[in-house]
Amino acid sequence: MKNNLPIGIFDSGVGGLTVYRALHRRLPDERFLYLGDTARVPYGTKSLSTVERYGIENARFLSAQGIKMLVVACNTASALALPAIERAAGVPTVGVIESGARAAVEAAHAKIGVIATEATVRSGAYRRAIKKLAPQIKVIEQACPLFVSLAEEGYADSDAARLVAQDYLSGLRDEETETLVLGCTHYPVLRSVISEVVGEGVRLIDSGEAVATDVAAALAERGLQRAPAPQKGARPRQLCDDLDHFYVTDAAERFSRIAEMFLGRAPRRLEAVEVWGHDELNVRR
Ligand code: DGL
Repeated sequence: MKNNLPIGIFDSGVGGLTVYRALHRRLPDERFLYLGDTARVPYGTKSLSTVERYGIENARFLSAQGIKMLVVACNTASALALPAIERAAGVPTVGVIESGARAAVEAAHAKIGVIATEATVRSGAYRRAIKKLAPQIKVIEQACPLFVSLAEEGYADSDAARLVAQDYLSGLRDEETETLVLGCTHYPVLRSVISEVVGEGVRLIDSGEAVATDVAAALAERGLQRAPAPQKGARPRQLCDDLDHFYVTDAAERFSRIAEMFLGRAPRRLEAVEVWGHDELNVRR
């Protein structure tokens, strides 16, 4: 039955695990297929046509496994290529930009800051999505490329992260933004340093958490929710348990290590696959 199919999630790499965590928390009865395109990360420094091609290949791969919905966890892919990805997926597809923009507008009156990759900032996708909902709000965008490496290398709560954050975020602090969108999958990992630098009065919006609310609504609207497990004797779901399946396009061991750092658990089911150059499934076993 379609309702029992998993929800597909893809990201350029490990960062989307923050979105997986938010979805898992919000939708504990659902199963997830996660694809991290670790061979081709980062997307945030690449051109629109390249990100679009990668996104289409990822969507086709997940679609071939059987999914009922696709979540594009990667802000860059959501910003640059969501319509093409949805066409390739052939299932309802949700990106993170609109969800993040809506949550920010609900929390702000005059000024919203957005931090994201270079490509996301260049695309103006967050600015457009915010202005569509609230044209009077001023939007200040800032690319923070080094945050990705700091998160991946385990430097999220370090003096190095503080120094980089002070440099990137000084403009936003001077503008006195009320709300700041964490418009990149990795940034929630640096949440406490970011908050320390911009000031605790600034509300941080995690686009992953915002999208989880929208995915729950989209499932309900289409009657696609998975039935809850029977209470008696059922094991409570845990992050990365064997109901969720993880795929990477390279460096599975590194992915596993970083997953443990981000989520406190490594995936039980993790497989290296090739997703490019083929329309149909091409799994390396
Ligand atoms: N996943 C990307 C995003 O959310 C960040 C990492 C990258 O540049 O690929 O935009």
